[in-house]
Amino acid sequence: MTQSFPPATIGYGFSHAHLLGIDPLKPGEIAYLLDRAAYFAELEPGEAPDALAGSTVINLFFENSTRTRSSFEIAAQRLGADVVNMDVATSSVKKGETLIDTADTLNAMRPDFLVVRHGQAGAVKLLSRKLDAHVLNGGDGKHEHPTQALADALTIRRHKGKIDGLTVAICGDIRHSRVARSNLLLLQKMGARVRLIGPPTLLPNSYEALGVEVYHRMDEGLRDVDIVMMLRLQVERMAGTLIPSGREFFRFYGLDRDRLALAKPDALVMHPGPMNRGVEIASDIADDLDQSVIREQVEMGVAVRMACFEALATRRAPTTLRAA
Ligand code: NCD
Repeated sequence: MTQSFPPATIGYGFSHAHLLGIDPLKPGEIAYLLDRAAYFAELEPGEAPDALAGSTVINLFFENSTRTRSSFEIAAQRLGADVVNMDVATSSVKKGETLIDTADTLNAMRPDFLVVRHGQAGAVKLLSRKLDAHVLNGGDGKHEHPTQALADALTIRRHKGKIDGLTVAICGDIRHSRVARSNLLLLQKMGARVRLIGPPTLLPNSYEALGVEVYHRMDEGLRDVDIVMMLRLQVERMAGTLIPSGREFFRFYGLDRDRLALAKPDALVMHPGPMNRGVEIASDIADDLDQSVIREQVEMGVAVRMACFEALATRRAPTTLRAA
């Protein structure tokens, strides 16, 4: 069943061949993806258009994932695609095959879409140059995780009605987080003010150029913010120990009731998952459905990934997009 475009998307387009990050996207393209995703979020699973019918999607995940991989898989299936999950742990990558050889092998199978997660920033871009398929970045090293940022933006927009003018605090291990980077780029492009809160060891090296406010104390940075975005400590990306212990980290940078009370009364609590309860966030806050939208972020993840697949499959230039 094919749906017509909702009126909100008239005038925007999306003409990229790949989704490598938020950085290359214009605000109008982000708005287009969010509008389409908002539309998909309201549909029952069986009502989605079959925009990917006859297409093959390969999920190639070199790093662990629960929600991102299954979310891409469900999104592709809802749009009618066939999905193949390559298990890197049992693939020839483990036998020493290079990334370029893996790309050649996959290319020979002629997939239409390749979703890649890789530990190295830039690996996804390299694959996009070597393959004929549309490549979607499912997270590359510390670089970008565009669909997570889009899912977060859609969640914010559903609650606040806008992104423009909001103040968002991104807290914790920002230095190692591709989620933080993609969110920072997206939120600023869409007109939000961004604060980074964390210890100096977990902040990016040069944040002056990022146009953000930086705080080392939660009590200062959380004051009057609209959104509190917590992050997991990316211990697997830390060379050496950058924090004393999880318990110590929670004492200084964990989100508890007292700290959350400093934000606006209707502030949203977000976390991309996986969470470490009692390290960056108190359990009762994570589960408090009055303020925590963590589960909704996962739900919106499917809708934004559907929007991304559809946008790549149709690649509409602004002038050719007209609502039915
Ligand atoms: C994040 C990731 O892998 O970058 N998870 C996710 O995709 N939702 C964040 C994390 O691993 O901490």
